[in-house]
Amino acid sequence: MRVSPFVGIALIIALISLVYTLLYQSPASQSQSPPKLYTVEDLAIYNGTDNRLPILLAILGSVFDVTKGKSHYGKGGGYNHFAGRDASRAFVSGNFTGDGLTDSLVGLSSTEVKSIVEWRDFYFRTYIFVGKLVGRYYNSEGNPTKYLKGVEAKAARGAQLMEKQKKEEAKVPGCNSKWSQDEGSEVWCDHGYPRLVQRPLEIALTGKMSKRCACYNETDLDQPGLEVYEGCDFLAKACRL
Ligand code: HEM
Repeated sequence: MRVSPFVGIALIIALISLVYTLLYQSPASQSQSPPKLYTVEDLAIYNGTDNRLPILLAILGSVFDVTKGKSHYGKGGGYNHFAGRDASRAFVSGNFTGDGLTDSLVGLSSTEVKSIVEWRDFYFRTYIFVGKLVGRYYNSEGNPTKYLKGVEAKAARGAQLMEKQKKEEAKVPGCNSKWSQDEGSEVWCDHGYPRLVQRPLEIALTGKMSKRCACYNETDLDQPGLEVYEGCDFLAKACRL
């Protein structure tokens, strides 16, 4: 049987493209299809030890190909500990050793959780999303777990509270401040009088008490919760700390 030369050429082209796809398809290009599901053990292989493999990291269960950031994530890089695992908590704790390298966010404040979600946004913007890690944040079907939904809700609540705090604080301008080795710290107001005041949403946001210096008009100085700086006159415009 005679085969037309066109059919022969078409077959060769098809064969070459099949071989190319099998050889060079990276986890990144596989992401065109539904995202791949990784187990903890799968992911650990891509920790930058083997130069022939891509480097992957997970944050909140989303897996990214960070090979182009090899200087950070490769062997000997300052952030190599993030490679091949989900160490979400370390993005805010800065603890890159032992127990610090965990995906558990138990006990973190809403601002800290928000900051981790922002790191995930950074990876979506900067690197290639290649799949999901089955575990705390995604189940074996690749669906978000209750834990991930809780984290996202907490981050959103944190964002709302920060916005509310910003609006509230904009109503009373903050003090000017300066510091020098010789004279120490000083706060002062161009208009109004410096007072120390509790930031009401800070506990909900960070779990800690925190005060700020704000400038109040004379008519508002009898409001509760306003503290005169120690050693400073009631109607002083500037206070040394
Ligand atoms: C909680 C603590 C910290 C975390 C979680 C953290 C995380 C990271 C990560 C993940 C990257 C790589 C970003 C990328 O893929 O491009 C990075 C880059 C970098 N970090 Fe940090 N970092 C922390 C603290 C610090 C501190 C304290 C410094 C400086 C004193 C610092 C300086 C840098 C610098 C210079 C880069 C490289 C920027 C570049 O070359 O593009 N980091 N950091």
